[in-house]
Amino acid sequence: VSNLLGIKYLTAEDLHLIFETADQFKEVINRPIKKVPSLRDITIANLFFENSTRTRLSFELAEKRLSADVINFSASSSSVTKGETLIDTVNNILAMKVDMVVMRHPNPGAGVFLSKHVKASIVNAGDGAHEHPTQALLDVFSIREKYGDIAGKKIVIVGDIMHSRVALSNIFTLKKLGAEVKVCGPNSLMPKHIESLGVKVEPNLIKALEWCDIANMLRVQNERMEHSYFPSTREYVQQYGINKTLLDSLSKSVTIMHPGPINRGVEITSDVADSEHSIILNQVENGVAIRMAVIYLLASKIKNYEN
Ligand code: CP
Repeated sequence: VSNLLGIKYLTAEDLHLIFETADQFKEVINRPIKKVPSLRDITIANLFFENSTRTRLSFELAEKRLSADVINFSASSSSVTKGETLIDTVNNILAMKVDMVVMRHPNPGAGVFLSKHVKASIVNAGDGAHEHPTQALLDVFSIREKYGDIAGKKIVIVGDIMHSRVALSNIFTLKKLGAEVKVCGPNSLMPKHIESLGVKVEPNLIKALEWCDIANMLRVQNERMEHSYFPSTREYVQQYGINKTLLDSLSKSVTIMHPGPINRGVEITSDVADSEHSIILNQVENGVAIRMAVIYLLASKIKNYEN
């Protein structure tokens, strides 16, 4: 069975194949008829044990654009609230002849765990603070679209690195493709051994921005913290927030990314998020093509389609 559990398990060759497949699907979804009949014989269940706007809708749209049958499951309105386990839940869904499961879960490693206990193709749509592989794929695809080759590009990831699955999956993807990566954020939100992943820590935001081509701004994930991380939001904004005055004061142009959801006025102001420097909505647009590519490639292995 083929899964997408994390970028950690992919090679640079896999990443290039996904991007090249997404190039073709991006062309498809920009046509007047946005659908292809490729996956008419595939049924996909989208299981969300944690809230989502972009990832959930983007997966559903990608599946529908490929003509797959789709069912959606939200844990809060399911029998999980009556005590049903993850494995029982998924095995009951699979009994309805489902081929593939897209799952978001608050626990790191939930996708890996599930893949060892059920017979279906699993796609990780975000597992706690661990990985968010399709987000990193759409992020790096968006960089590739603007800059071409990823090798040698300088990317800084700014904010709550400690709780960010987006940061970890981005680091894996960018490093596999030869980019230079720095991380910038408060010490209290920086994982201890982050440099072992081949990235450098730059605590000063202005220095980080002067160094990079692209800044990926992250939200502080208060929902994953037991205690307050930093003296105050005001101090976070002063030291790690990006605004138009700061962006305009740099000696070079920096492209701004954000995975969403944005906390406007905290990590990024509206005049940056909505500016010509921002590719935030391009990222969202590319999410559909990337997820079509991932699902198509996994389904090809299940059904032995011709590529
Ligand atoms: N970027 C992202 O994962 O957003 P959602 O939580 O809305 O899916």
